[in-house]
Amino acid sequence: MKIAVLPGDGIGTEIVAEAIRVLDALELDFEMETALVGGAAYDAHGHPLPEATLKLAKEADAVLFGAVGDWKYDKLERQFRPEQAILGLRKNLGLFANFRPAICYEQLVGASSLKPELISGLDILIIRELTGDIYFGQPRGRRTAVDGHFPGAEEAFDTMRYSRPEVERIARVAFEAARKRSKRVTSVDKANVLETFQFWKDIVTEVGKEYPDVALDHMYVDNAAMQLVKEPKKFDVVVTGNMFGDILSDEAAMLTGSIGMLPSASLNASSQGLYEPSHGSAPDIAGKGVANPLATILSAAMMLRFSLQQPEAADRIESAVKSVLASGLRTGDIWSEGTKRVGTREMGDAVVAAITKKTITG
Ligand code: IPM
Ligand code: MN
Repeated sequence: MKIAVLPGDGIGTEIVAEAIRVLDALELDFEMETALVGGAAYDAHGHPLPEATLKLAKEADAVLFGAVGDWKYDKLERQFRPEQAILGLRKNLGLFANFRPAICYEQLVGASSLKPELISGLDILIIRELTGDIYFGQPRGRRTAVDGHFPGAEEAFDTMRYSRPEVERIARVAFEAARKRSKRVTSVDKANVLETFQFWKDIVTEVGKEYPDVALDHMYVDNAAMQLVKEPKKFDVVVTGNMFGDILSDEAAMLTGSIGMLPSASLNASSQGLYEPSHGSAPDIAGKGVANPLATILSAAMMLRFSLQQPEAADRIESAVKSVLASGLRTGDIWSEGTKRVGTREMGDAVVAAITKKTITG
């Protein structure tokens, strides 16, 4: 088994280093190879996703990804910006199914801005379609308008589109996932306005007939955004398109208190996957050794479960993380009165210690 390790920019290198130490502590037999991606790759090779990095990712069984981006690249032409690396990996590896769990850990209930009773026990799985929609739809660009409100004016446009097989396959992923959970799927759309999402809704309904044991309901995206903060525990599996999923998964992440805790997995049809924390590169705290490595460590657990067929090793990581939280160690993002504040490295140390069953010396 081969893992491509792509730490990226900002806190990416610090948090991925801890995830690797945790993987090493499991003493399993993998090969790991590291490559540059994002701004770091642009600085070294003039491109955020160099050929060699893409090749390594394609040939690996799984990619462990940190984060990309920094303000200093904001002025670059779009094709050279760090974000293009992650979009390019998704497209080139065909990673259409993005799993974004939002789990509220009992010890962190107080870290959320929502009332404890609204989020205690929260366990939502957002399944975001990741290679279609307005993110990748062609045509896109700038031109002179020939119609609309201002003919002759400069305009920009993107294309929202989904094909039947694209919707069918993500719907199946959602129904299969729901079968392993509470057997409920909410499909989020904007069928009242957009043809693309009436089509989406029709197809999800059709596919749903193959899963009579799973309850399906539909919700408009604006209402879903509202219900997520009003009554988040109503949701279980949420399936939606690329752009709505981008927005709703950030919202769901904040329900849990800290985006620093949330892993994600992006899979293709052959279970090859890219695993990354749900948060970004946090350039403001990069290099300070204070970032929370747990989202990346938990992403490594998802990698073991989904791409490397090592479910027991995944369980070991997840229980180690729970025991470390129970012992009261916290990075700054999840710190609260009465807990002990630690840095990135110490948090990694504690997880490694919990795995190797040595006593945790906080
Ligand atoms: C995410 C990010 C990306 C997205 C960006 C960095 C391209 O926000 O993974 O959610 O919009 O998909
Ligand atoms: Mn996003």
